[in-house]
Formats: sequence, C-alpha cells, structure tokens
Amino acid sequence: AVNLKGRSFLTLMDFTPEEIRYMLDLAHDLKSKKRAGINNQILKGKNVVLLFEKTSTRTRCAFEVACMDEGAGVTFLDSGSSQMGKKESLEDTAKVLGRFYDGIEYRGYEQSVVEDLAKYAGVPVWNGLTDVDHPTQILADLMTIEEHIAKPLNRVKVVFCGDIRNNMSYAWMYGCAKMGMHYVAYGPDVLAKELDQDVLARVQEVAKETGAVIEVSSDPASLKGADVLYSDVWASMGEEAEIPERVKLLTPFRIDMDMIKATENPEVIFLHCLPSFHDFETKMAREQKEAGYDIREVTDEVFRSKHSKVFDEAENRMHTIKAVIVATIG
Ligand code: CP
Ligand code: NVA
Repeated sequence: AVNLKGRSFLTLMDFTPEEIRYMLDLAHDLKSKKRAGINNQILKGKNVVLLFEKTSTRTRCAFEVACMDEGAGVTFLDSGSSQMGKKESLEDTAKVLGRFYDGIEYRGYEQSVVEDLAKYAGVPVWNGLTDVDHPTQILADLMTIEEHIAKPLNRVKVVFCGDIRNNMSYAWMYGCAKMGMHYVAYGPDVLAKELDQDVLARVQEVAKETGAVIEVSSDPASLKGADVLYSDVWASMGEEAEIPERVKLLTPFRIDMDMIKATENPEVIFLHCLPSFHDFETKMAREQKEAGYDIREVTDEVFRSKHSKVFDEAENRMHTIKAVIVATIG
C-alpha cells in the first residue's frame, strides 16, 4: 500500500506511477466528499506556512482553502513582508519554520531553493512552482483529463503549444513520462534547442519503463489525434523582457479554432494553467498591444468554447493540493 506520510512534493519525478495514482484517487475522493458536504477535518491540529517569492492567485488560494476545509491553520508569507532571502538565509528560515509548522509550501525561482528548504526544514515541503517545474498543476490537469476524457491516462495524447522550455512544459514531460502518456512539446526549433538535455534523457529513461512517448516537434502534423491542447503564457513570471522575441517566435503556435480542427478530434479539450492572455482585458496585454505585440497565447474563441475546461481545471487545483497535503501530513 502507498504511504506518503512525511514525504516532500518537489517534482513528480520523485514519485512512482502508483504514488501519483494514489494522490489522484485521493483528490477525486476529496472532491466528491466536499460536494456531498462531508468533512472529516483530516488536518485538525496541523499548521501550514505558504512562502511566495512570485505572485499567485490559484496556488495560494488552493492551499489556503484546502487547509481551512480540513481544519489546519495557515500562514501566508511573501518576500516583501518577511526576512526570507534578505536578512536571513534560507537554511535558517527553513529550520525556524520547521519548528512551527507541519508543512511548508514554496513558490519561487530556482528548483534548488525548494530542495534546500526540504533538506533543512525537517517537515514536508511542497513545490508551488519554480522556474523549471509546477507539479501541483499537473496533478490538477491529470484529474481534469480523467473527468472529461473517457479513456485511461496511458492512452491520452497531450500537445503543449508555445513556450516548450518553460516550467509547465517540463512539468508535463515528467507527468506524462510517469503516467505512460503521449506528450508533444509543440513549438519553434529555436526554443527546442534551449531544452535541458539532461532532463530529456531522464524523461526518456522513465518513458522506457512506462510506455510513454515524449516528443519535441515544430511540425503541425503532431496536432493530429491530440486529446488535449494545452497552452501557457509565452513569457513566464520574471521573463517579461523576452516578450518581443517570444511574440515573434510563438505567434504561429497561438491556439485558435484551426488548431482545434487540426487535431481531427471533435472531442479534444483545451486546458491552460491560467492566468491567460486570451483577450486584451488585462493591463499587461493592452500595454503590449500598444507597443505592437499581441501576446495572446490562445484566442478568446477557443478559451470560451465548449472544448475549454479551464475553470474545472482551476477548481481541481484545490482538490489536488488538498490531496497532497492530506497524503503527506494528514
Ligand atoms: N496556475 C497557477 O499556478 O496559478 P497562480 O499563478 O494564480 O497560482
Ligand atoms: N509559466 C507560468 C505559469 C504560471 C502558473 C509562469 O511561470 O509564470
């Protein structure tokens, strides 16, 4: 039987397919329990701290609601309002927080930071996004796929369109490799060249065992047969200076209705981790447009179409994050 008590959640690469299956099953179960109004206060008496060095809406709120639902106390800290990283080393912060709290969430830049936190804290640490991974997002995405696509994960093909070298694309490689899925990183060759070759090799090792197919392609033919088209912003948090270059490279990879048609799958679903620039409603998208850059990674038509399951996906952030907390400290 799977037992994840005391484990940190830094990347899906640290977990076996059975362990990932266990967290997904737990998330489905916790979701139906919440819908039925059943609450067992599984985290009563526990305390959790959330550390954010980058901004967040979904991840922060998912952690907070998950804790509140199950009776845990929760503290939010960002770099602007704490000593973290300025007046105190991460090692010291981790050691202190490990004395107060039963678990620590961290969102920031380098993956090594979340690894160091786990090394020094003495309590489970959960990765709430780094420059190279976003494992809680993948759990929510897999859960959403299971709700909307009537076949097992190992028969599902996911095509990620756009900035194929970002945290979401790597996180997808890990998730798909582990769960025996078909993943295509569909984007320009220039960005394919920037992919971390060590990561690709590690992912292919896992794929050999699970039967997964992990590909990188700039060929539109790879859209055919997709069950999921996935997009993310073209410039991640901290990469805003790259926008002009990315718009030039990624405009052909914007998801529109023609791309939906190119899948030749009338049931294809559209997923996006959010936040998304699908129109010009945000200050950032408008300013970029005025400067001559159309940063929409998906059209509003697709985003609002029947293919789009993005709000189910967003909701599932909470159920899957709750599953991770419950599994590791519950
Ligand atoms: N998808 C996601 O992580 O959203 P936030 O940045 O709002 O947390
Ligand atoms: N790639 C995006 C994901 C946001 C959830 C970023 O890192 O900004």
